[in-house]
Amino acid sequence: KKIAILASGSGSNAEAIMKWAKASGLAEVVCVLSDKREARVLERAFNHNVPGLYVRKKKLESREEYDQKLIVRLADFNPDWIVLAGYMKLLTPKFLHVFRESGVRVINIHPSLLPLFPGLDGYGDAYRAGVKESGCTIHYVDEGMDTGEIIAQKTFPLIPGETLEEFKARGLLIENAFYPEILEKLLTQLL
Ligand code: GRF
Repeated sequence: KKIAILASGSGSNAEAIMKWAKASGLAEVVCVLSDKREARVLERAFNHNVPGLYVRKKKLESREEYDQKLIVRLADFNPDWIVLAGYMKLLTPKFLHVFRESGVRVINIHPSLLPLFPGLDGYGDAYRAGVKESGCTIHYVDEGMDTGEIIAQKTFPLIPGETLEEFKARGLLIENAFYPEILEKLLTQLL
């Protein structure tokens, strides 16, 4: 199975998925697309011999026009799965429709136990709300912000006294193990 990754940032999840794909032989990461030129994920892709493409968002370009460029770029790689890993833009209905029609599945990881704390800062929002436990969620992507059907969740407690930075770092490490684990189950139809 071919996986295309969309990411905007550091790319620790993308890296974990590239490593897992290589080691398991269950999938091939065919490309990493980023909307941020400086994103570290592009360097990580390069180091794994995976094509890393920066797709530039022009100032006056609409979301629809931008996603159309993504559609064209992605089509070249013919992915079976589109995996969002820290991709910070909302995908348009057209984008989702095009891939849904051709049987491509689009999934995301979100740093909270959805439906709690959707949005840009799941760990921060959970931390500030003073919850005793939080977690991360892998879900199908729909037109909404973190509203798609939930595939799997991992719960972990907040450690009393830990800083937000410590909590985030811990959460990210958990994500890095959880995302490949769930992808493996999805690809082998155990989920
Ligand atoms: C992760 O916390 C992910 O859940 C969220 O953005 C972060 C991306 O981290 N959507 P990385 O770029 O994979 O290191």
